[in-house]
Amino acid sequence: MIILGIESSCDETAASIVKDGHTVLSSVISSQIALHAGYGGVIPELAAREHLKNIDPVVNSAMHEANVKFDELDAIAVTSNPGLIPALLVGNAYAKGLAASIGKPIIGINHFLAHIYGAFIEHPEVLADSKNFPILALVVSGGHTAIVLIPEDGKAKILGSTLDDAAGEALDKAAKILNLGYPGGPLIDKLAKTGDIAKYNFPRSLTGAAGKPVAPEHKYDFSFSGVKTSLLNTVHKAGTISDSDLPDLLASYQAAVMDVLVAKTLAAAREYSTPNICLCGGVACNSYLRAKLSNDATKARRTVLLAPPKFCTDNAAMVGGLAFHYLKHNRIDSLDMPANARLDHNLGTLPFAPKAI
Ligand code: KG4
Ligand code: ZN
Repeated sequence: MIILGIESSCDETAASIVKDGHTVLSSVISSQIALHAGYGGVIPELAAREHLKNIDPVVNSAMHEANVKFDELDAIAVTSNPGLIPALLVGNAYAKGLAASIGKPIIGINHFLAHIYGAFIEHPEVLADSKNFPILALVVSGGHTAIVLIPEDGKAKILGSTLDDAAGEALDKAAKILNLGYPGGPLIDKLAKTGDIAKYNFPRSLTGAAGKPVAPEHKYDFSFSGVKTSLLNTVHKAGTISDSDLPDLLASYQAAVMDVLVAKTLAAAREYSTPNICLCGGVACNSYLRAKLSNDATKARRTVLLAPPKFCTDNAAMVGGLAFHYLKHNRIDSLDMPANARLDHNLGTLPFAPKAI
């Protein structure tokens, strides 16, 4: 089955042609980073205007690169939630118009679940073997930070998520405080490489590290507002951060964010006896996080599936790929399908990866 995936939930206009959920025939991404960099974050209306300009050329390039004609498509999949409403609406209106004009089914895709699917695009064998379940996913992006349990029945359940900022936001805001540019995640990743993670002592919220026990209902939740404020205070107190101090400051800050993600993920893997852990979302590109999760999980005798960086940040291959698993079960949507800004925490009703592939 050949599916055209479309993604426009934030600041990337993307289209991809995916065959049978796992063979990516093309993946075209038009990034708006330069447009939003001056504002230090994404401006929804500007993003929508840019999507409108780019969506048709991006879809046409994806079709051309894959050498696929519209009548060869089995369906059109589009991110319908969660995301920035003005941005989502562009992709949704385009996908619906195209679906109606060429007479193909439309499938609405949850962006959060699509990020998880990014770890499985190149690994159909993991999903195909029921012994690999339950699988635990750490989803870390600019909009989300959550630990998700994918039980054998193919449903997804959020065990915990952030109470305030997402991990990517914590990095982007730190870069803004230090005037490093946007997005902060990749810049911090690079600059922190030569730094000493033990030089500065940043708080690890909701871990009990400060002597305050964590409420049981928050054991898999996160909070990054404290570490961000702590960085702000450190910078104010120091007055200026010298070029030689910057790598240490960033390495210590990055470690404070990532260590909590890894520790809670491994605790959940123990509690739910998950043999496999997957790492996905834009922040999953982070070299410190990839190394730390791999090392610590190996020690805990868990297998880690790291989504490849090209399927970590926003892309449409994860959208077209996941849609295959829905189409196979005839789960299609109608043209009056709405776009929703918020993540429905009750993901249990969404099939993630039905057993039989
Ligand atoms: O998944 P994504 O493209 O968009 C959302 O759905 O949010 O994630 C974007 C986030 C940004 O916060 C960006 O700073 C972060 O991913 N990011 C990184 C790295 N590359 C991108 N964070 C840490 N290290 C990286 N190498
Ligand atoms: Zn995303």
